[in-house]
Amino acid sequence: MTESTGLCRKCILRLTPYVPGKPIEEVKRELGIDNVIKLASNENPLGPSPKALEAMRAALENVGQYPEGSCYELRHAVAKHLGVQPDMLIFGSGADEVIHYIGIALLDAEDEIVQAHPSFVQYCAAATLMDCPAHLVPLKNWTHDLDAMLAKVNERTKLFFISNPNNPTGTIVWADEVERVLDALPKRCVMVLDEAYYEYVDDPAYTRSIEWVRQGRNVIVLRTFSKIYALAGLRIGYGVAPAHLIELLERVRLPFNVNSVAQAGAVASLQDPHQVVRTREQNQRSKSYIYEELDKMGLPYTPSQANFVWIDVQRDCKQVFTELMKRGVIVRTGDIFGAPTHIRVTTGTDEQNERFVSTLREVLGLLKSEVIA
Ligand SMILES: Cc1ncc(COP(=O)(O)O)c(C=O)c1O
Repeated sequence: MTESTGLCRKCILRLTPYVPGKPIEEVKRELGIDNVIKLASNENPLGPSPKALEAMRAALENVGQYPEGSCYELRHAVAKHLGVQPDMLIFGSGADEVIHYIGIALLDAEDEIVQAHPSFVQYCAAATLMDCPAHLVPLKNWTHDLDAMLAKVNERTKLFFISNPNNPTGTIVWADEVERVLDALPKRCVMVLDEAYYEYVDDPAYTRSIEWVRQGRNVIVLRTFSKIYALAGLRIGYGVAPAHLIELLERVRLPFNVNSVAQAGAVASLQDPHQVVRTREQNQRSKSYIYEELDKMGLPYTPSQANFVWIDVQRDCKQVFTELMKRGVIVRTGDIFGAPTHIRVTTGTDEQNERFVSTLREVLGLLKSEVIA
């Protein structure tokens, strides 16, 4: 107990600040090394579309003025892109912010949420912030166990989260399975379908989420410009939902939550389909290469529908992380997700992937005697 504990709502003490992937500059400073690559935060190694960069440079001229709070131009561009009405969208400073708004707008203290574990940590944070219990349902074979999740639903369940693909494992649940759950949820329960990695998925049975929104079902779909469009540093994502749900979220949205440079970059990104094509191609090539090399090393991994791979290094992940980092390769440890022998690695450029593989091979040799699995 610190002196300040009496100053806040009690549930705030159950929150811990988000621990992000270690930044490149921090590793350079701490270890005094120059050549560092970060494959820890599921960013796009190819960077943004040149068209987006051009639009953002032009938008810089106007940063003396507040951005348009309604994201007018972007709202119409995304509405057209998805085939929904403009009032079925809410924009946030990242999908993270939309998750935050969903929590504050929809959760009362007597409500509950259901989510998988391990999965994206912000769902639970939104529930804790509102002093709501979160049912964390273990993954089965590293994918959502929808029946077990459904078994946790009761009359107090307000939000049912699915990270699809799931972060950190890269697995998906198919549209037919999700629809079955949607049909079974009580009327007052909203399904949040987090599709941050939507554009990477190549399984045709993947999702019909936007169709469900158009049908007016209790669904909020989350998408982002951080991943395939490579605008993570600008913080811009959005939610798609029936207008009556968006109207509730808009009540808690901060006035100028999405900056003007981000809005311009996002509009231009949508106008450059090559960005998605080239990133998907790179990602497919990266995954095939990484899988092949992991097979050679005899390390189990989970085939991924996203831009990262969940690997069982069969050793203490923190030691593997530290040794990789000393050699200039930053990944994410699994212990924060409750998986102490796993790491999550983001796919990189060909060169970065090769560096990761050769460094991992070196580190595994070093830590051979420490097998704990
Ligand atoms: C599953 C999932 N949802 C949401 C987000 C948040 O994305 P944004 O950068 O748009 O806040 C992430 C980011 O890593 C994610 O992995």
